[in-house]
Amino acid sequence: MIADEKRKLYGIQFHPEVVHTPRGGEIYKNFVLNIAGIKPEWNMHAFRAAMIEKIRQQVGKGRVICGLSGGVDSSVAAVLIHEAIGDQLTCIFVDTGLMRAGEADEVVSLFRGHYNIPLIHADARDLFLTRLAGVSDPERKRKIIGAAFIDVFDQESSKVGGAEFLAQGTLYPDVIESVSATGGPSVTIKSHHNVGGLPAYMKLKLVEPLRDLFKDEVRALGRELGLPPAFVGRHPFPGPGLAIRVPGEITEEKLEILRKADTIYLDEIRKAGLYDTIWQAFAVLLPVKTVGVMGDGRTYDHVCALRAVTSTDGMTADYYPFEHAFLARTATRIVNEVRGINRVVYDITSKPPGTIEWE
Ligand code: XMP
Repeated sequence: MIADEKRKLYGIQFHPEVVHTPRGGEIYKNFVLNIAGIKPEWNMHAFRAAMIEKIRQQVGKGRVICGLSGGVDSSVAAVLIHEAIGDQLTCIFVDTGLMRAGEADEVVSLFRGHYNIPLIHADARDLFLTRLAGVSDPERKRKIIGAAFIDVFDQESSKVGGAEFLAQGTLYPDVIESVSATGGPSVTIKSHHNVGGLPAYMKLKLVEPLRDLFKDEVRALGRELGLPPAFVGRHPFPGPGLAIRVPGEITEEKLEILRKADTIYLDEIRKAGLYDTIWQAFAVLLPVKTVGVMGDGRTYDHVCALRAVTSTDGMTADYYPFEHAFLARTATRIVNEVRGINRVVYDITSKPPGTIEWE
């Protein structure tokens, strides 16, 4: 630490912002409140009002289209924008075929049924699968998915007619992990499909009301906006979806196997009352087949890896220390109930050095 008490200059050279720094938050609090003398007036209620005003100013009488991914972020963004500009907003839900079991239907019924927000449901499942066929490289998959998203949008938005703006649920961690905040060189860990903008020809301006928020703040905003608690509490789900949970080539068959395993895993987590303690839990279908024995027969099937982490913002994470009985129960169910999986392993890597998703 370095300080000039007289001029009230303070410097530190470490990371108080990461969760693992003991009392890191206190350092910021002390600096902001006691040294800088700033009043803690920022809260979700105020943010909501200020952001609604900001959206109205940015958009005017223009039409906005919003890409719904089915996750918390884009949903919160859409509800907030709808509150600001009503039916000037049309949501486009691109059904990539890469979602969890039943999630596509949930999104459609929440938005059309509950909120009455104009929604286009674009079934692009075949397009995504076709373009991903034969592709194994994680970054290429992400790029392909990002590009396919844009193509579907382009097509669907032209049907809306006269849309000038595109709304996205981009969060602060997406921004800092994908691009360098200072403009200097930094390593791209993963190219998040929802960052990086649109091709210039689309001429859509971006509306990104969550760009300065962390996930926990987005959840608080969702609650403030009255979204159902179970929906707001949903684990984060990445834009590229199950595609980055099937390392190697993606096929409909593999996706179906993964969906089944994932459903069982989350079912067991809910039954154990652990869903809200865990930041994110999901199954991964490995491109590795191993030998097993089932009844009297030999099996030669996929390995399923289970992942569960605790985190506050997704930037760092610890693996969740399940009890052995839980893991044994879940593994047994998956192997017994899911055809195509004969072995289950549990990922005990934290972030860093691992990332949360496998790709
Ligand atoms: P990683 O895997 O980088 O993930 O440790 C950190 C958090 O971000 C989510 N994630 C994504 N979210 N688009 C998203 O909207 C993406 O391309 C993407 N990739 C990762 C991940 O699920 C975790 O919560």
